[in-house]
Amino acid sequence: MDFELTQEQRMIQDACRTFSRQQILPKARQWDIEEAYPRELLQELAKLGFLGVPIPEKYGGSGLDYISEAIVFEEIGYADSSVRTTLSVQMSLVELTILKYANEEQRKQYLPRLCSGEWVGCFGLTEPGAGSDAGNLVTRATRQGGDWLLNGQKVWISNGTWADLALIFAQTDPDKKHKGLAAFLVETRTPGFHSQKMKGKLGLRASDTGELFMENVRVPDSARLGEIGEGFKIAMGALDNGRYGVASGCVGIAQHALDCSVAYGKQRKAFGKAIAGTQLVQEMLANMLVETQAARLLVYQAGAVKNKGERCTIPVSMCKYYASEVAKRAADMAIQIHGGYGYSNEYAPERLWRDARVASLYEGTSQIQQLILGRHLTGLQAFEDEQQRVPAGLQA
Ligand code: CAA
Repeated sequence: MDFELTQEQRMIQDACRTFSRQQILPKARQWDIEEAYPRELLQELAKLGFLGVPIPEKYGGSGLDYISEAIVFEEIGYADSSVRTTLSVQMSLVELTILKYANEEQRKQYLPRLCSGEWVGCFGLTEPGAGSDAGNLVTRATRQGGDWLLNGQKVWISNGTWADLALIFAQTDPDKKHKGLAAFLVETRTPGFHSQKMKGKLGLRASDTGELFMENVRVPDSARLGEIGEGFKIAMGALDNGRYGVASGCVGIAQHALDCSVAYGKQRKAFGKAIAGTQLVQEMLANMLVETQAARLLVYQAGAVKNKGERCTIPVSMCKYYASEVAKRAADMAIQIHGGYGYSNEYAPERLWRDARVASLYEGTSQIQQLILGRHLTGLQAFEDEQQRVPAGLQA
């Protein structure tokens, strides 16, 4: 077991830290206020290889390992979780899913465009009536000759109105439940495809979140990703990657909360001394330090499993669950340490707190992660009580 980053990983960390602290962090507050950041930033990130970290070079990626991917998410997440969310969806949910399940033609068609930032991708799983219960989608895919007609609606889709390419999950045969789902690569310029921005979010205000509407969207069978009936497994496999990105970004939030709390605590005086020198503030700082490092190590442990090419559902659920809760606690403590200033958007903790909140909701709530872990431990399925079975690959 080696806790040191490799030289290559340290180089990625340095490059990403320098870029994100100079080009993203100073603008994050304004982007949050304006509820948007410039899309051209993606091309800048792509030039540095940060939009295709684990994608092989032959498809336009950087060909690096999953620890490097986590480092990039942590550094970008430290600066701005809205930007990190765009990256996570693009790289983890869309690119890696195409890499694993697409045929060679589809990979060549889409991966270089996504890795270069020319195209943006989104992940169309969640529906108004199906969030945690992802097997219960009502978006329909109906066969018509050699084509498919897609009809339905998706909500809470990160990158939803920016996307050029949408990975859409749809039901081909409702009687088959989750075994009837299929995945499609849908170009959003296809007639019948519309999107609309969702506003009024608590956090991640600068990130694009949309609703997708599909009315008789006709796609050829060659737009299908994987086999009919494989959609649920593709979605769950994608979420193993996506949740890892969320967890890594949360480590960045927690580290930022800690760093700004130490800095503020050293310069803010109360009762004639710096508040960082008081026992109760040091207790909070110590807790933030230990929890942030523990979350980072859980992420790296999951990354090591991913690097071996093994199924990572359990280590990823652990790090997603823990890191998202740690980010919320760290941001909350940062507000406490900053006192009244922590409640103002002139200081970072307020935005960190709002941005951290969604991490235990999206890409599988903390409760879903707990139930996945609980089932792993006990062999008992809490979300399907009439059929207490453990699917292959999830046994303890
Ligand atoms: N990889 C590969 N296969 C998997 C898998 C994985 N990670 N997870 C499950 N499977 C397979 C199983 O092996 C099983 O196969 P068989 O049918 O052949 O046995 C099949 O899929 C069904 O698996 P489960 O029994 O685990 O399915 P379930 O219905 O019990 O799953 C659940 C329940 C774990 C709660 C799942 O529905 C889930 O994770 N829900 C949360 C969904 C979610 O995260 N939604 C938010 C996503 S997107 C988003 O937030 C928007 C955005 O833009 C960021």
